[in-house]
Amino acid sequence: MVEECLRRAPSAKSLLDLGGGQGVYAKGFARSGLSVTLFDISEVIEMAAAYLKGEGGITLMAGNFLESLPSGPFDIAFLGNICHIYGPEENRALFSRLRPILSPKGLLAILDFVRGHSPIAATFGVNMLVSTQSGGTWTEAEYSQWLTQSDFFGVKIHHIEGHQLILTEKE
Ligand SMILES: C[S@@+](CC[C@H](N)C(=O)[O-])C[C@H]1O[C@@H](n2cnc3c(N)ncnc32)[C@H](O)[C@@H]1O
Repeated sequence: MVEECLRRAPSAKSLLDLGGGQGVYAKGFARSGLSVTLFDISEVIEMAAAYLKGEGGITLMAGNFLESLPSGPFDIAFLGNICHIYGPEENRALFSRLRPILSPKGLLAILDFVRGHSPIAATFGVNMLVSTQSGGTWTEAEYSQWLTQSDFFGVKIHHIEGHQLILTEKE
């Protein structure tokens, strides 16, 4: 995942891990030399602090990303398993709000189970239907449409161990 992002954005120095959880991906990005800001709700940030103890290059930030985002700019914004929690309107709005905090040519990286590509996306979507307000799993065409409407370009999907990684650039 890290390698694929850095292949597309080889000069990236900073990364926002939005909804980064305990920090599995943040750790991988930081160990590859990126300066990482992991943003999540305060309860999860406490868990991340314990998990990432002793790791360098990671700043932890608590908040609700539906309300506010760190100011940036970031060379990469990484959304790992976030878009299935939310519906089309929230995802489109989030992509639009992320654009201004990306640096010029900044990369948006979305990791999720994409409907039509992942064999478990359909059943996972049912799980989200039951356990979230508007979540689900989304097709490549839906992601492409939301990203294009949010002024992102060059949408490309990569398949990595049953997950899909969607990469797209600000300009
Ligand atoms: C499914 S986990 C993904 C964790 C990690 N990115 C990964 O891929 O392993 C979703 C994370 O997003 C966080 N999250 C969801 N909605 C959020 C919001 N509105 N503001 C901040 N964090 C949020 C949750 O607390 C949780 O840690």
